[in-house]
Amino acid sequence: IKARVKTPRSIMDKLTRLGCELSVESARKNLTDIAGIRVICSYIDDIYLIVNLLTAQEDIKVIRTSDYIKNPKPNGYRSLHMIVTIPVFLSERTDHVKVEIQIRTIGMDFWASLEHELSFKPIEEKDKVIAQELKECADVISNIDLRMQKLHNFTIRSKRTYK
Ligand code: GTP
Ligand code: MG
Repeated sequence: IKARVKTPRSIMDKLTRLGCELSVESARKNLTDIAGIRVICSYIDDIYLIVNLLTAQEDIKVIRTSDYIKNPKPNGYRSLHMIVTIPVFLSERTDHVKVEIQIRTIGMDFWASLEHELSFKPIEEKDKVIAQELKECADVISNIDLRMQKLHNFTIRSKRTYK
């Protein structure tokens, strides 16, 4: 599990990019990822288990779920995103703070980390080949995730049978 809070600089940049007013109120209203949590798990099924556990938790309210595993982004990006609110108890009131939670397998994180790093390098529009190659890598990794899940299911079953 990794957690990060957006820096004031990066909050201002994003508000500017979105064409929103630069104020604390505006940041609260317009940004959903000031607080971010990334959960990296072993198997695809773990991701949906975590989603179900979070959804069932009474103090957490799910605002939005985007399933980029069932519907990968065109570049091959896979992960499950949730925007939730979490109550923060202050002395005179309770704030419901938005948090962006990204849940992904080790494989998805491997791809996303390298893709993120590569995207900072000046890849020109003409480099369709690189984009295509990255997309293919995402698909290969996704296939491995499915195979590891099957192996996992198989070993659980055989442990149950032979115990
Ligand atoms: P939701 O916020 O779930 O509606 O998705 P979105 O399409 O708005 O995603 P957004 O582009 O806001 O990305 C949210 C975060 O997801 C980013 O800050 C990244 O951490 C991660 N992410 C999204 N798309 C990509 C991608 O193509 N590559 C990588 N490496 N990370 C991505
Ligand atoms: Mg977003």
